[in-house]
Amino acid sequence: MVKVLASTLLYILISFAECLHHNSYPLKDDRVPDYIEQLKAHKHPEKDPINYYTFTYLSNPKCNIEKYFEDPVLRLTLIVKSTVYDFEKRNAIRSTWGQEYRTGFPEVDIRTVFNLGYSKYKYIQDKVEVESDVFGDILQSDFQDAYFNNTFKTVMGIKWAMENCHSSNFFFFVDEDFFVSTKNLANFLLSQKDEYEKESVYMGYVHKNPKPYRNTKNKWFVSEEEYPFTTYPPFAAGGGVIFSKKGLQDIHYGISYTQHFRLDDVFIGLVAAKANIKPRHNPEIHSYRKVEPKENVEHFRDVIASHGFGDIDEMINVWNQCERAGFA
Ligand SMILES: *[C@@H]1O[C@H](CO)[C@@H](O)[C@H](O)[C@H]1NC(C)=O
Repeated sequence: MVKVLASTLLYILISFAECLHHNSYPLKDDRVPDYIEQLKAHKHPEKDPINYYTFTYLSNPKCNIEKYFEDPVLRLTLIVKSTVYDFEKRNAIRSTWGQEYRTGFPEVDIRTVFNLGYSKYKYIQDKVEVESDVFGDILQSDFQDAYFNNTFKTVMGIKWAMENCHSSNFFFFVDEDFFVSTKNLANFLLSQKDEYEKESVYMGYVHKNPKPYRNTKNKWFVSEEEYPFTTYPPFAAGGGVIFSKKGLQDIHYGISYTQHFRLDDVFIGLVAAKANIKPRHNPEIHSYRKVEPKENVEHFRDVIASHGFGDIDEMINVWNQCERAGFA
């Protein structure tokens, strides 16, 4: 009994200490939510921001085009993290889950844009520019397209959405190697709209008690110099993250009070902790691939998004089957 009590107490103490840790990540100031509110109200914040991102857009698409519905039930913007090399993946997405208009679908205004860095290889950059002219859906800035520049990519997407998507209700930040049921996503958001529109929603596959990898061989290795604490605050895995408009706004301003961090999803988790936003778990967003084997699409009936679809043909195939079955 005493032992149980003691270990519970110890657990509470440790959890408390961990919370303090997260707050110690710069900017260490528990009034960040107040500064965010001040910025939102266009007031001069009591404390100046510590982190600024400026992007020089090479390609800056429009957001709400409003060409399909005069008064849609929902406006949803999909911001797809892509790379300069993935022309084919983008084409596959344009013809499957990224389609902006589909018949037999709720009256949802869908806007899909692809989020890219820059290529120093002229022939690739030229190809991207042609693609951008043709499709008008490429968002690109002048930082180099590289995995450890993902934080720039994500922040660029957030900033672009803030500046351009005034009439969007919800945003889905998603990786290009995902299967997405835009229909399930739209229906889920429609069912939660009234509640979520008022709230700061930051939702996805939530890692509840994440820790930095200290093994130098790991892809996500982080040194103690870069991040001295033993845990990260909980965060939504970067592959598929939903924001309400308010959530996006709070994160956007929160970013300016959070020191840059290389892993984009951890970074957004740090920002959310500073902004006092709790990540919400959605069990239908699968950070690990939904099912093996893939043949039976019945498994995808309720899936909103699933990682593990880097194979283009397979993604198209599964999506087509789901679409035919009525759940994509
Ligand atoms: C990120 O982009 C910057 C600016 O283009 C570049 O100097 C840097 O090398 C890139 N980082 C990585 C890890 O490639």
